[in-house]
Amino acid sequence: MYYPDEIIEEVRSRTNIVDVIGSYVKLQKKGGSYFARCPFHSEKTPSFSVSPSKQMYYCFGCHAGGSVFTFLMQYENISFNEAVSELAGRAGVALPQAELSGEERKRENLRQQLFDINREAAQYFHKNLRSDKGERSRNYLGGRALTWETCVNWGLGYAGNYNNELYRHLKDKGYSDEVLGKSGLFVVNEKSGFRDKFWNRVMFPIMDVNNKVIAFGGRIMGQGEPKYLNSNETDIFNKRRNLYGLNYAKKSRVPYLILCEGYMDVISMHQAGFTNAVASLGTAFTSEQCTLIKRYSQEVRLAYDSDLAGRSAALRAIPILRKSGIRARVINMQPCKDPDEFIKQFGKDEFQSRIDNAQNGFMFELDQLCTRYDMSDPEGKSAFEIAAAKKMLELSEPLERENYMTAFCERYGIDISNFRRTVNHYGAALGTVDYAAVQGAVSEDAGEAQEFRGYLPESREKGAGRNSSNAASDAAVAERLLLGYIAENPGIMEKLDSIISPDDFTDPVCRKTAEIVIPEARAGRKPLAVRLVNSFEDLEEQKEAAEIFNSTFVADPTQKNIETALNDVVRRVKQNKISSSKDMPLDEMIRRKKELQSLRISLD
Ligand code: UTP
Ligand code: MN
Repeated sequence: MYYPDEIIEEVRSRTNIVDVIGSYVKLQKKGGSYFARCPFHSEKTPSFSVSPSKQMYYCFGCHAGGSVFTFLMQYENISFNEAVSELAGRAGVALPQAELSGEERKRENLRQQLFDINREAAQYFHKNLRSDKGERSRNYLGGRALTWETCVNWGLGYAGNYNNELYRHLKDKGYSDEVLGKSGLFVVNEKSGFRDKFWNRVMFPIMDVNNKVIAFGGRIMGQGEPKYLNSNETDIFNKRRNLYGLNYAKKSRVPYLILCEGYMDVISMHQAGFTNAVASLGTAFTSEQCTLIKRYSQEVRLAYDSDLAGRSAALRAIPILRKSGIRARVINMQPCKDPDEFIKQFGKDEFQSRIDNAQNGFMFELDQLCTRYDMSDPEGKSAFEIAAAKKMLELSEPLERENYMTAFCERYGIDISNFRRTVNHYGAALGTVDYAAVQGAVSEDAGEAQEFRGYLPESREKGAGRNSSNAASDAAVAERLLLGYIAENPGIMEKLDSIISPDDFTDPVCRKTAEIVIPEARAGRKPLAVRLVNSFEDLEEQKEAAEIFNSTFVADPTQKNIETALNDVVRRVKQNKISSSKDMPLDEMIRRKKELQSLRISLD
């Protein structure tokens, strides 16, 4: 970590989360907390809460949550250190540069050099493209219908015929082998030393949102394998965290981004006037890329390839987008393979009309689901309806779910009241409880509110989106609930001391949290949630840790309810631990599980 704990603590203690979040979203006071419509997903009723006493925020809808640092990281899409520095600025806390440890200064220095090397390389390749030796590459790009203006705009280049040209060029500029070896641009071999990774290829510089070149893709001219080569990952290039073309697309005024797979797709779309196109570069779309998009746009139209691989990539991307409240639509590229081909064959007006008619992402998922069943067979048809009903449960807003059920039934000629019954049936089985209904608010669905087990299975909905009845995520929910309860009520460890230890937690984030929370609670102390959440480097992990401290253990906290819930949760945590211990003999397992049946924690 960059800054010492004391500095972070200083910034935190001089910052009021309510003021900071209040400067981004309109907060309304309700009891001891503040509420707003969640900035991280789209919703009509406020389920985003900020607690001044805990100095945390949490959304009951999308489960976003954390400290004031996490909020800035999520909202502004910045790193932890950037968040610290921004808040330090607001709070008037000086962050001395000298606080960088020697190790970190070295890393910063390396990053700077890597940016320089990539810029030099981009200039070198581009100069090649303009020179005599670049004739074949110019012809290649021209043959793919790119104008010279486009080539310049995207900084395209050519890596020459020899496999050490770039190396020699950069050595002449004075870069050391040590740094060049970390640039992702060379293949280092004990015998033959440094060789250029790219030669005799058309070069596409990859830029970050700040227009800095961070890596390259190189395409073979014509047929051959591999078609594209990419820079290795480096300290400045992480494929998961970058989208090709976003540096230009972020400036387009269109309210949605077009997401496609490849370099050529992005470039030819921009050339045709679709300057809102970006690409995930052939790798699976990640939640980090989603966070990046969220900063600029609330809607994505997918222009993935029309082949099987493209369709399954779309199927994977849509839930990731939905989870962060980004609307997704799918553009039909048939009969072409990709946007580049489509625009060449049918022109930009036709492409625009395909964009306008892009299919709703959820309906696309249902259509794809349908292809897996034999609809002419009654059994196949029922199986499809059940699968579709389960899918409906991924939608947490009752109104939204209702609308999709109607649209779905119309499209497939299914009786809506039968289908609604199926959905409710599986909703009850999954324990997907409508938060508002549980809180006692009268909602339309309240009449059908499913079995209520005394505590809120908060993360269940989210779990359903990922891998619903999965035992692992089920265990994580119980583990989170238990930890959250211990953190809030450290005294309970007196009763749990011989029963629960950090070892019992199988989820990695829970485990790490338990290792801090349990000893603290044993000493009778409440752990500092903010500090704990921030001890996780990864944003996803921070979110999960924040969930621990925001788990609502019981909706109606009478002693009896708490006791029932506590016993149930402890039992589930222990049970999972037993089931997951790989080398425990079966009879031992059975004996321990039996023992659990008689476990009884009393709050008296
Ligand atoms: P495609 O094979 O669909 O490429 O891969 P494309 O963009 O249509 O390429 P052209 O039109 O033939 O030039 C999509 C993306 O997957 C990555 C690249 O980022 C590419 O743009 N890819 C593909 C690789 O990294 N390596 C490969 O060998 C192939
Ligand atoms: Mn293509």
